[in-house]
Amino acid sequence: MDINQAKEIIGKQFNFIAEDANELILYLNLPQNAKILDVGTGMGYFAILLALNGYTVLTGEPESDDSIYSKQNWLSNAQKIGVDHLITFKAFDAQDMLFDDSTFDAIFFFGVLHHIHEKYRIQVLDESVRTSKPNAVICFLEPNQNGIKMIKEFDSSHPEAADPSEYAQRLNLSIQKKKGRFFNSFIFQKELP
Ligand SMILES: C[S@@+](CC[C@H](N)C(=O)[O-])C[C@H]1O[C@@H](n2cnc3c(N)ncnc32)[C@H](O)[C@@H]1O
Repeated sequence: MDINQAKEIIGKQFNFIAEDANELILYLNLPQNAKILDVGTGMGYFAILLALNGYTVLTGEPESDDSIYSKQNWLSNAQKIGVDHLITFKAFDAQDMLFDDSTFDAIFFFGVLHHIHEKYRIQVLDESVRTSKPNAVICFLEPNQNGIKMIKEFDSSHPEAADPSEYAQRLNLSIQKKKGRFFNSFIFQKELP
């Protein structure tokens, strides 16, 4: 199935995120056997996009999260698109990842960092650095002004976007920014000696 067919099946909210998210996935051009972690499953939209591009994805969110954005029916969405066999769910908290050092080629946070309290974000970044391989990418997609405006139409109490770039220098990471229509991407990589 292609992305346009998926947009028709899942509908409005998927349309809203798919363009910017898919542009990033295509831009990164990760090898098909890349080990990918999608932090913050939500509706499963980002994991589904990765799977539509042929990637196998591990995704998760904390078991303890009772917000309206967690415990959504990501599996039903993935089944409708026929990519559920490429996605594995495992509950975890990004502040204390269950994974070994140097496990992932890419870690994605799509619409997630602003849902994590500011005081825990540095720990989340530390955990991402620890669990990613030396050449890995750690990517944050955060809504821009257009995106926040759209999101607030259905959730007026939604938090403001986070700015991941403020953590890059502190963790010695290089950063590349890509502007999107509704979501901006921040691509971090370890500064190799
Ligand atoms: C708006 S949803 C993200 C949308 C989702 N990425 C998608 O593609 O549909 C926010 C997600 O962040 C998750 N989240 C919040 N705090 C987290 C944490 N500390 N670790 C991992 N996930 C977290 C929530 O459980 C929820 O799944």
